[in-house]
This record gives sequence, structure tokens and C-alpha cells, in this order.
Amino acid sequence: MDGAWRIGMLYSRSGVTAGIESTQANGTLLAVEQINAAGGVLGRPLEPVIYDPASSPRLYGQLAAKLLGEDGVRSIFGCYMSSTRKAVMPEIDAHRGLLFYATLYEGFEYHPRIFYTGAAPNQNSMQLARYIMENYGHRFLFIGSNYIFPYESNRVMADLVRQVKGRVLDEVYVPLDCQPSDFDRVIRLIRKHEPDVVFSTVVGKGTAMFYTAFHEAGFDAEKMPIASLTTSEAEIAEMSPGVACCHLTAAPFFEGLETPAARQFVASFKARFGADAPVTACAEAAYFQVMLYAEALTRAGSDDPEALVPHLLGLEYDAPQGRIRIDPDNHHTELWPRVARVDRNGRFEVVWNPEVRIKPEPYFVEPTLDDWTFARLRIKK
Ligand code: ACM
Repeated sequence: MDGAWRIGMLYSRSGVTAGIESTQANGTLLAVEQINAAGGVLGRPLEPVIYDPASSPRLYGQLAAKLLGEDGVRSIFGCYMSSTRKAVMPEIDAHRGLLFYATLYEGFEYHPRIFYTGAAPNQNSMQLARYIMENYGHRFLFIGSNYIFPYESNRVMADLVRQVKGRVLDEVYVPLDCQPSDFDRVIRLIRKHEPDVVFSTVVGKGTAMFYTAFHEAGFDAEKMPIASLTTSEAEIAEMSPGVACCHLTAAPFFEGLETPAARQFVASFKARFGADAPVTACAEAAYFQVMLYAEALTRAGSDDPEALVPHLLGLEYDAPQGRIRIDPDNHHTELWPRVARVDRNGRFEVVWNPEVRIKPEPYFVEPTLDDWTFARLRIKK
């Protein structure tokens, strides 16, 4: 058979989450270009069909339908906000396509036609909770953006905190298209409660507004940090120097990860997209999921989802974060949890790196007290 293998790309270049999604688009393009430079798959190049869904769930749904219908694409790579994944899902069903989703999310989902390559809560929330309670305390304040991921992610975090007799002092949400003034109320709440940590599930452009308001309020981030799963190198790049200092993020990959594979990936990324292009965990997942797709395509010899899926189940790959594996039971990915703290130069310094690959548990059935990542919690009295 001649011609290119067409794949769909749905990453926003505009709207609330354009910053982080642009890093995912870059990760995807880097993988495609490397694969094509090495001869493509079975002698045929990958050809991305690219649209900008502008951070709008409605556009995600419409463009997914276009890709899988008019454009003849079988697999889509994309989505960041869970609301956009949920909008694409019915189109994946209707057209019998595949979605490769490279973003951490709230869990509690399994779809036979979706592969989830970002962290599930047992691969980031649990580790972050543990790190916070060992090092800062157990009085939490939650702040999030107003959509599904923050509500669900906060519910999971609240369960973890309460299991070890920690406290959630308050929980507050700001609009997705927030303005700096939306954080006035949040700053008042932080002042009132004086928590040990602020757990933030704010996403996209609001992240810089929140961290800036926190910084300007004069809070001491060394003692009371903001801890997040969604504040990456991309959101920090939107802040003034020093604003992000001392805050925490849990993720399987950071730009500053000191391994040969990570360094090589970061060097290739910056050589292609510029020295200032942020390299994020979501970009790394976007990159390696194309590599997994290409390997499955090579083995299957067809881009028909029915032919591809059996080759993806249990597939392993030496990703920049470490060797990862698609869990055949739930289509999520075995990943390497880490916690990092932002230094004075705005760079993540990895502060907790257990070098353990963790199996995804999207349903978080037993947020297992006997799991070592949890059982080692020590709570301040
Ligand atoms: C997210 O909405 N999954 C970050």
C-alpha cells in the first residue's frame, strides 16, 4: 500500500490551555519527524492532520468528527482538559477510532478505544500528598478551575488527606477564563486559614495569575507552598522571574531530570523548537505515545484500530522518563512518579525520586494504606 499514514492532532494553540497544549503539539511533531527521518513506518511517513480546537470542548468534538469522518483519520492524538476528552469520546465511539491522551487526569475512566499516557491519581496525587505531609503539614486548602478535573482531583486528594487525619480547610473554584481579580477572594481565604499547603488544580492561563497574586500577597512559599499536578514548565514560563519559587509539582517527567535519556530528549526538543520552548511531562507523554503507536503500527501493518489495539496492550518503550508500559488491563500507562520544587531561577529541581515504576490504578479502588507510597506517610502532630 502506498501513501502516508494519516494521524489526527487536536492540541490547542489558542485559548486557556494553549501554553501547555503547544508543548504537547511540539512533542507529537518531534516524534513524527524523528520517525519519518528514520524512514517512516513500513516505508511510509506519518502525516499529521492538524487543527486548533482553541481550548473549546465543543470544537474538540466537532474537529474529532471531521478528522475521523471527512479526513479519513483512524487515530487522534490530543486533548488536555478532561472536558475536551469527554467531548471527543462520543466521536471515537461513533467512528470506531482511537484516542491517545497524553495528560494527567482525575482517573475513574476506562474506554477500550482510548490510551491514557499521563498520570492517574495513584501516580501523582498520592505521591504529592505523601511528600507534603512529610515535609509541610496536613492542613490543606484547595483551589481549582471550574470544570471536571479539579472537582474530581480534589475529591481524590481530600480522601487521601482525611485517611491520615489531615484536614481540608476550604475548597474554592475560579472560572476557566478567570481574571486576576478572581484571585482576590482566594488570597483572603489563604490569609484567613493559614494552611500548611495550597493544593492547586487551576489550569492554563489562570495559573500565572494565581501564583502572581500569591507572590504579591507576600506569603512565604518556603513554609506554605502551592502544590499542583498541573503547574508545569509551560505555566511557569508565563510567570515573572521568581514568582514560582519554592512551589511543588508531582509528575513523571521534568525538564531538569538528570538522566541521559531525559537530557537527550530535552536537547532534541530545544534544538527543534527553540531554547525557550518548555519541555513538560505532557510533552514527553505526547512524544512517547506516538512512538508506541508507530511500534504497534509496524507490528500490525495496518492503522485499523482493531488491528492496532492488541499490539498496544503490554507494549513497552524506553521513554525519556524511563521505560514505560501500557497496562493491558486498563489502557493506562506504568509511569515513574516524581516530585519537584521550583528553584529561584524558575526551574524544577527534583526533590523526591524513588526510581519506581508504578502501575496505574485509574479506579483507585483501595487508595491502599499498605501501598508503600502511602504507608510511609508520617503525620506531624
Ligand atoms: C485535565 O483536565 N486532565 C488536566
